[in-house]
Amino acid sequence: MTLDDIEAVLLREGAARYGRESVSQLDHALQCAHLAEQAAESPATIAAALLHDLGHLVRPPQEGMGGAAPDSRDDLHQFIALPFLRATFDDAVLEPIRLHVDAKRYLCHADPAYLGTLSAASVHSLRLQGGVFAAGEAAAFVRQPHAPTAVRLRRYDDLAKVPGARTPSLGHFLERMRALVLPAG
Ligand SMILES: [Fe+2]
Repeated sequence: MTLDDIEAVLLREGAARYGRESVSQLDHALQCAHLAEQAAESPATIAAALLHDLGHLVRPPQEGMGGAAPDSRDDLHQFIALPFLRATFDDAVLEPIRLHVDAKRYLCHADPAYLGTLSAASVHSLRLQGGVFAAGEAAAFVRQPHAPTAVRLRRYDDLAKVPGARTPSLGHFLERMRALVLPAG
């Protein structure tokens, strides 16, 4: 996907509500990127924050664009966006996206207070995603190079659900992402 493709998908499909949350997918993406930017994250991490849920918006055609998976199974959205983005960004963007669901499972293990901060929708999806990591799973998770970034992204993700919150425009973030785009192969 080019940046133009990403912009089109976020604008076209992103108006949909974010699962059981009370903000749209686009608002959620913008709030998440804004929180990352305010925390002085790298441009790659800010891009990952903007794109982390793109998998909700680029489903395989048989499931319907922008459609949600049935509420009773894991939608695996953290993986779905990766093939679409792999030619465009390197691992500094892709890996935090891939790991952001496991980061939730990790945080529930590592931080006893964390589970209580999750929205009801997020607790529901946690169960479908395999639940809280056991100690061995948590240890394997944190050994991955981009795990600390994914954990920070997860914190922004969890906070990026505020109805009506003001953020910079999508264009602001897309402009900052231009320097991250890989040269065409
Ligand atoms: Fe999210």
